[in-house]
Amino acid sequence: MRDEQETVAYRIEAGIAWVSFNRPEKRNCMSPSLNRRMMAVLDELEYRDDFGVLVLKGEGSAWCAGMDLKEYFRETEEQGLGAVRKAQSEAYGWWRRLRWYQKPTIAMINGWCFGGGYGPLFACDLAFAAEEAQFGLSEINWGILPGGGASKVAAELLPFRRAMYHAMMGENVDGRTAAEWGLVNEAVPLAALEARVAEVARVLLEKNPVALKATKDAVRRVREMTYDNAEDYLIRAQEAANFFDETEGRKEGIRQFIDDKSYKPGLGAYDKDRAVPVPSSS
Ligand code: COA
Repeated sequence: MRDEQETVAYRIEAGIAWVSFNRPEKRNCMSPSLNRRMMAVLDELEYRDDFGVLVLKGEGSAWCAGMDLKEYFRETEEQGLGAVRKAQSEAYGWWRRLRWYQKPTIAMINGWCFGGGYGPLFACDLAFAAEEAQFGLSEINWGILPGGGASKVAAELLPFRRAMYHAMMGENVDGRTAAEWGLVNEAVPLAALEARVAEVARVLLEKNPVALKATKDAVRRVREMTYDNAEDYLIRAQEAANFFDETEGRKEGIRQFIDDKSYKPGLGAYDKDRAVPVPSSS
C-alpha cells in the first residue's frame, strides 16, 4: 500500500501550485490516508507567498474515482461508528477547507470523476475538464445514495430534472457534456488541458489577490442569502478587503485608469506591481 505521505503530490511552478491526487493505481479514489494527507498539504500551502493559484489534478487516467470503497467504507465500518465519523470528518474537512481556500482554486479533471469526487469538484472555484473525462454519480450502481455532499453538488450545479436523472440513472457523461451542463466551466481535448488551465491561472495571477479572495467568497456566500442580506454582506466584505489590502489596490486601480490612462478596467486588470504598499492601519 502507498505510504500516506505519497497519496498526494505537489509542485510549485511559476506561481501555480499543482496538487495531485496521487493513487493512480487505485484511480485516485479517496482513502482516509489520502484525505488526511490532502488536508496536511492544503494546510502547508495555504499562506505561502510563492504561488497564487492552486490547481487540483489527478495522476494517471483518473481525476478521482470517488471514495475508496474498501478503505473508506468497508474497513471503517468494520471498526464501528467512531471510525466512520472520523473518516467522514477527515474527508468533508478538506473539501470545506478548499471551498474557502485563501487562493483561487481550479479543478483540472483529466479523467474519471465519480461520486465523492464531486465534493472537491464543487470545492474548487473553477473547473476545466478533458473532453475525454467521464463524470458520474455511480453511488446508485452500488446501492447507496450520492452522499458526501454529492447530491447537494448535483442540485447546486444542475437543473432539477438533470440532477435527478444524473443521480438516479448512474450513467456517465463526458467532459463536453459536463461543460454543457455546467458541472465544469469548459472542456478541451486532454492534450490541451494543462495549457488551458495554466492560461487561466496566469490571468488570475494578474489580479489583486485580496479582491480575488473577497470575490470567490462573495459568490459562494450570496447563493444562500436574500437580496438584502447579500447587499449588506458585500458592503462589509469590501470594507474588510480594504482593510486587508495593504496596496490599496482599488485606489491604484482608479488612479491608473483616470489619471495615468494606462489601462481600461473593461478590457483588463490594472498593473498591481506598480502599487505601493501602505501601512494597514489606514
Ligand atoms: N474504491 C476502491 N477501489 C477502487 C475504486 C474505488 N472507488 N476505484 C478504483 N479502485 C481500484 C480497483 O478496485 C482496482 O484495484 P486492484 O488493482 O487492486 O484490483 C484499481 O483501483 C483499478 O481499478 P479498475 O477498476 O481496474 O480500473 P479501470 O480503469 O478499469 O476502471 C473505474 C476505472 C473508475 C471506472 C472503476 O475503477 C470504478 O468503477 N471505480 C469505482 C467508481 C465509483 O463508483 N466511485 C464512487 C465511490 S463514492
